[in-house]
Formats: sequence, C-alpha cells, structure tokens
Amino acid sequence: MNFSNFESLFRNKYISVYIMFPLFIAGLCFTMILLGCSDTSNKNKSDVPQDESVNSTKQKIKIGLSMASLRVERWHKDRDIFIREAEKLGAEVIVQSADEDAVKQNEQAENLITQGVDILVVIPENSVASSRIVKSAHAEGIKVIAYDRLIKESEPDLYISFDNEQVGYLQAEYLLRHQPKGNYFLLGGDPGDNNAHLLRKGQLRALKSAIEANDIKLVAEANQWAVGWDPNDALNKTEQVLTQTDNKIDAVVASNDGTAGGVIQALEGQNLAGEVLVSGQDADIEACQRIAKGTQTMTVYKPIDLIATEAAHAAVALAKGEKVSKATQTINNGKFDVPAIILTPIQVDKNNLDEIIIEGGFHTREKVYLPE
Ligand code: BGC
Repeated sequence: MNFSNFESLFRNKYISVYIMFPLFIAGLCFTMILLGCSDTSNKNKSDVPQDESVNSTKQKIKIGLSMASLRVERWHKDRDIFIREAEKLGAEVIVQSADEDAVKQNEQAENLITQGVDILVVIPENSVASSRIVKSAHAEGIKVIAYDRLIKESEPDLYISFDNEQVGYLQAEYLLRHQPKGNYFLLGGDPGDNNAHLLRKGQLRALKSAIEANDIKLVAEANQWAVGWDPNDALNKTEQVLTQTDNKIDAVVASNDGTAGGVIQALEGQNLAGEVLVSGQDADIEACQRIAKGTQTMTVYKPIDLIATEAAHAAVALAKGEKVSKATQTINNGKFDVPAIILTPIQVDKNNLDEIIIEGGFHTREKVYLPE
C-alpha cells in the first residue's frame, strides 16, 4: 500500500467518523424515545386491573391462622391438615398460637393483619374478646372465619364447626341410655368458649325428661365448668364433688376428653374408675386407650380432616372474593346471622372404636390397644 493512498483513506475515514458519529447518536436517541414510549404504553396496560393479569402476577394468598392454644391434641391435627390443604391450593399459612390468653390472641391477630394477610382464620380463646379481631380485620378489608368456635358481638364472614349442641346431646344421651337412674355430675368446658354453652344446652336437652321424672339428679349444681378446659381443674372439681356426695356419683358428663382425663384420675383415687360412666369428646388417643381399657365410657368423634379441609377451601375462596358454596345455613351469634358450615359428630364407644377410629384411620391399632 502506498503512503498517499493510506493517508487519503485515513482522511476519508476520519471525515466519515466525524459526520457519522453525531448521526448515529441522533438515531440512537430517536430509537430510545420510541422504545420508551412503547414501554410506557405496556406499563399502562398491565396497570389496568384486568382480573386475569392481576391473578397471574399476584403473590400467593396469605392466610393468618390464629389459634387459641395447642394444648388439646386435636388442635395439632387441625393446624397440620389446614396448612397441608391450603398449600395444596397454592396459599401460604402463617400460624400463631395464643397459649389460652385472649389478650395475646388479639395482639397476635393485629400482627397478622400488619403482615398483610389476605384472610384470617380464628379459633377464638374467648368468644366475646375475639370480636375485636373481626372489627380490626374488617377495617382493613380482611375477611374472618370463626373456626370451630363462634365469635360473638361482631360480623364474622363464616363460621365452620361441628354441631356442638348435638355433641353435648350425644354425650348425655349415651350415658343416660346406659345409666337411666342416679346422680349425674355435669362438668362443662371453659365458660369463655361458646361451644361449652352449646354442649351444656345439648346435655340438658338429653337429660330433661329424666330429670323431670326424678330418675336423674344433678349433683353439685349444674353450674360447673372446667376453666380453660383444664384437666387439673376437672380433677379438682370432681374430687370436691366426690367428697360432697360421699362418692355417690353414677355418671359424669365431661365435655371433652382432656377434662374426662382429669375426672377419671379423680375416680381412680377412689377406686371408682370403670364404675362411674364418663363421657368425652375429640377421640384423643388417651381417651381411645381409656375406652379400650374400660375407664372412659364414650367419646364424640369429630372428623378433623373434614373441618380443616373445608376451612382451607373456604379461606382461599373468601380471600379471592368468591362465595363459599357450602355455607348453606346461618347461625345467629346474638348480633348477626353468620353464614355457616356445620358438620356432624359421631358417638364412639368400645363397640365401634375399631370401625370409626382405627379403620377410619384416625389412630392406629397399636396406639389404641396398649399391651397389658
Ligand atoms: C372444641 C373441643 C376442644 C375444646 C378444648 C372446644 O371448643 O370444640 O374439640 O376439646 O374446645 O380445646
């Protein structure tokens, strides 16, 4: 290559760079402006609240599960099955347990609301105090499901439970059928729990005509409650009644299995276990063992997988703003007709323990029938 050629080539290139560079920059700016415009128009499109696009981009549904406590065995099942079902439906669950403290439960629920839950599922420690949870949640547009226990003095969006009056009826009806005469001790659950009152109502309905006929005598007043559903309180109160009546008790209508455990411990202290009929509720493993052994007469089984599964479906539906099609009835909470799903409880004694509890998969045979 000759030098003058190279020089002219360099000059030409230099000139072309000189001219072309500003043109290139101008072109680039123009393209960027165009892209910018089209980007803004896309953004505007996705901001339009069109259902499909919102659903596809929205984060998981967040469910707050506020539990009164985990003391009784069943609540562990409720929690685990509820979480499993909700997760199957693509939701996430944040669980809080209040250790039987109504004030703590209200604080925990406020915290769940602050964490941005889409829906609250509440097992209230106290049926009145928990009304604050409903009010706070509603103020933020969050719906509330009362799970197993009704919430009063407010307008919960759904109540899902078993027929608790029927549970009480089944407890007393069973004992009366097997012990039609004698002294009965009615031991209620926690007086702050609406269920305890429904149970008592059902128990009295079952015993009414036998009481009127003087076949049954209620000892130590009907007005006895195991505070906090505490087995120790049940033990103490049964001991007192045994002392007062000189051990003349024929049947104890205990409202759940935990308190039945306390009652049976008191009876064991007087060598009366197995002699005095005792009811229960929940089909806790220890109660099933006692039924197999003969120290507890019966329990009322409530299929926990059913309530927990239905509740998870209802929570997701309500969070999406859908209707709960299974809520075909309402229960009045003293202020409001709460849409409700009410499930059916089942009497269990030693005769159908295998069929309902073991074959039904609630507990295994090895756990129920312990070696002597
Ligand atoms: C529930 C029972 C339970 C009790 C104590 C009631 O409200 O319905 O199943 O045993 O509370 O936790």
